[in-house]
Amino acid sequence: RLPQVVLRGRAATLRGLAEDAAACRECPIGFHAIQTVWGEGHAQAPLMLVGEQPGDQEDLAGRPFVGPAGRLLDRALAALGWPREKLYVTNAVKHFKYELRGKRRLHKTPGQREAAACLHWLESEIAAVRPQAIVALGATAARSLLGRAVPVMKERGQWLQRDDGTPVLITLHPSALLRLRSPDREQAFEQWLEDLRQAPGP
Ligand code: URA
Repeated sequence: RLPQVVLRGRAATLRGLAEDAAACRECPIGFHAIQTVWGEGHAQAPLMLVGEQPGDQEDLAGRPFVGPAGRLLDRALAALGWPREKLYVTNAVKHFKYELRGKRRLHKTPGQREAAACLHWLESEIAAVRPQAIVALGATAARSLLGRAVPVMKERGQWLQRDDGTPVLITLHPSALLRLRSPDREQAFEQWLEDLRQAPGP
């Protein structure tokens, strides 16, 4: 028999929230995705990273940032010396929004209404983890975290403040780097690391 793991405190709260979110159909995209992709990582992480929404591979795996964007994020975390399990990694929107092209499911940016419907889940994760700082990866995350549109290219590398006082570092989403070709991509990756380096690592 496997020993029973008893979760307490914030981990128990996050587990309960994840179970509730698994049944969420508060916006249309919940009906088409395979599953809710909840955040993962340390329940008391000092730093939270917030992306946009799960992609195709995340929807299949039920875990955030495990596809191409996740692999680039992992490369950055390795370069920064930040163990991923000491962070909390999540998304502004918990379901994969896509458009079918033949058999392929192509990413579609979530609409403001979908992001707004999902916001209470993100807020519940922030309230449970209580990170000292948050990194907004891209415009959807920044908008959800700050309640207003943020021009990411203008504000990247800057700290903005949420209404609850938590500082939010603005930077690009890793998918934006994946759209570039070499050598621009390598250069953009180095600039991205410079942004991320400002955050207090775990
Ligand atoms: N892009 C995101 O914003 N989040 C993921 O989890 C994967 C890709």
